[in-house]
Amino acid sequence: MAGSIYIGEILKNEEIQEDCFLMKIKLASSFENPLPGQFVMIRIAGLNDPFLSRPISIYSFSREKNDCKMELLYRVVGKGTQILAGLIEGSQVEINGPLGNGFETDSVKENIIFIAGGIGMAPLSMLVESLRNCAGHSSAAMSVYTGFQSSSAVVGLDKMRKLCRHIHVCTDDGTLGKKGFVTHIIQQDMKKFMPENTSIYACGPREMLKVLAKILGNSKFSCQVSLEERMACGTGACVGCAVAVKDKQGKLAYKRVCADGPVFSLSDIIWE
Ligand SMILES: Cc1cc2nc3c(=O)[nH]c(=O)nc-3n(C[C@H](O)[C@H](O)[C@H](O)COP(=O)(O)OP(=O)(O)OC[C@H]3O[C@@H](n4cnc5c(N)ncnc54)[C@H](O)[C@@H]3O)c2cc1C
Ligand code: FES
Repeated sequence: MAGSIYIGEILKNEEIQEDCFLMKIKLASSFENPLPGQFVMIRIAGLNDPFLSRPISIYSFSREKNDCKMELLYRVVGKGTQILAGLIEGSQVEINGPLGNGFETDSVKENIIFIAGGIGMAPLSMLVESLRNCAGHSSAAMSVYTGFQSSSAVVGLDKMRKLCRHIHVCTDDGTLGKKGFVTHIIQQDMKKFMPENTSIYACGPREMLKVLAKILGNSKFSCQVSLEERMACGTGACVGCAVAVKDKQGKLAYKRVCADGPVFSLSDIIWE
């Protein structure tokens, strides 16, 4: 989905956890309502460097009478996110969006599992919020599995706790929740769920999704994943974000994460 370019005003840009920021932006009311899983390309308004636009998922969105408010949850990992982290209240940002396909929710089943690794919490939070508040799914039918490197890297959990009854947390170093990778817990717990009445949504590091693909293997579980590949243009023009997938005939094809995704069916992705 092609977005449009807007100038947004930063209302808040707060470090809520070490190297992790929550940015609140005011946008014109003409900004289209985003679907959960869609993202924006963001950079400082007026900056000449076209390579400093970065893809960030929409963490929350609200529409008011005269404008819209959007929140982005992001981790500082390099130059682009470092620049974003330095922006103060009142600064202007250039936002291109909403972009990408977003999660498909029309055929969501009775039980819903969300699997988030690290900052993968961002798009899944908006999805959970939308399924709870707009589609009326019950908190009891939703299970969230999250994995972080350490307790100091945990983000977005308080919001998830308000929305979902079953929350499973693990950290690589055991400083919060169970010790180990989130995929270990998923592997143990999958027997509690039936493919006929369960939908799975996931977002996280490539390695986590690759292990998840092995766990679900040839099972009948339907799982949608949001990929966080590196991007350049973010709008489908450069093919810099291509991933290998199986097409409808099972043949190798390449899809652009920004324009054809970022959400794909887990079973379509070719990991090797
Ligand atoms: C659709 C989409 C949604 C995203 N949503 C979010 C979000 O909500 N919050 C958030 O914090 N991040 C999100 N990301 C990732 C984010 O875009 C990158 O972290 C950011 O672009 C890094 O830019 P940088 O200039 O700070 O780092 P760079 O200087 O470009 O890179 C610094 C280091 O990070 C690594 N790196 C950069 N980008 C990625 C990546 N995509 N995956 C893995 N390693 C990477 C580089 O290899 C390098 O080691 C999303 C990415 C995509 C594609
Ligand atoms: S980033 Fe350019 S085509 Fe996807």
